Amino acid sequence: MKTSLSGIKPTGIPHLGNILGMVLPAIEMQRTHKTLYFIADLHALTTVRDGAALKADTYALAASFLALGFDPTKGALFKQSDVPEIAELMWLLSCTVSLGDLFRAHAFKSAKDEGTEGQLNLGVFSYPVLMAADILAYDSDVVPVGKDQLQHLEMSRAIAKRFNHHFGETFKEPQELIQNNVAVVPGIDGRKMSKSYNNGIDPLSPAKNVKKQVMAIVTDSKGLEEPKDPDTCNIVSLFKLFSNEAELNELKAKYRAGNFGYGHAKLALLEKIEQKFAAPRAKFEELINNKTQLDAFLSAGAEQARQKAKEVLLRARKACGLS
Ligand code: TRP
Repeated sequence: MKTSLSGIKPTGIPHLGNILGMVLPAIEMQRTHKTLYFIADLHALTTVRDGAALKADTYALAASFLALGFDPTKGALFKQSDVPEIAELMWLLSCTVSLGDLFRAHAFKSAKDEGTEGQLNLGVFSYPVLMAADILAYDSDVVPVGKDQLQHLEMSRAIAKRFNHHFGETFKEPQELIQNNVAVVPGIDGRKMSKSYNNGIDPLSPAKNVKKQVMAIVTDSKGLEEPKDPDTCNIVSLFKLFSNEAELNELKAKYRAGNFGYGHAKLALLEKIEQKFAAPRAKFEELINNKTQLDAFLSAGAEQARQKAKEVLLRARKACGLS
């Protein structure tokens, strides 16, 4: 079975866009791949300065994966920082990476354009090398990522090639898996759903909060009796993600007929969200209130991941004459 590996920055409780675009497809891959997923807490430290928040966000993401169906018998979910082999491997790789490649990295360039040199840290610069270590440490076959990570994957491949060139065949060259057909999820204001726009729906958060978010979806100001256009309405775009064709057509017909208010449509959407997420939410709440269980789960994941990382690190140490 091929190994699928990916890292996810700890951004806390995932919104609907994260869940439909990333968490559920990642879990779906458990059917066909051995899955290694980690919470990229070391990468997060390039920007995070609040340790308590980092910890809370890490737990929230781990609990979300489990609540949404991640099966620990078919793979591992772990914290990047629980596999210290990665840090050593990063050093071995660093010594063959060319500075020119790192200067050309998009993420570094934009960080450099935004901030002054005093604000830039070495972690931002060497981010791609840590990412290559993440990927190469597990002999990963495929790496499911968003389009924005393509350059990082190309760099990881180049880093593997270069090390292999100098020290002999050591690392497997990974392949990115760019998911193109993932759902585009609009936020409650119609822009792309994003933490930074604060326009999310967080289905695993308390039901009261979800209701508040759904009720805040922005619409035009047509009155109850007026016929409405379903094709330009955010509520309909969101409803579509949860309904079959018949249900969608029924809702559209109600829009066109009039005497059906946006409030009614929001309640129909809310019902769909609750159908799908009420059970995962209960599971999430149980887990988030039981840190001992989450810790045990994460360390079991790390233990499994480390076995492979140790093996690959030893191969690399031997190749360059350290072992
Ligand atoms: N850089 C990735 C992101 O921002 C997260 C990440 C870290 C990652 N290490 C990885 C993704 C290894 C895939 C493989 O989304």
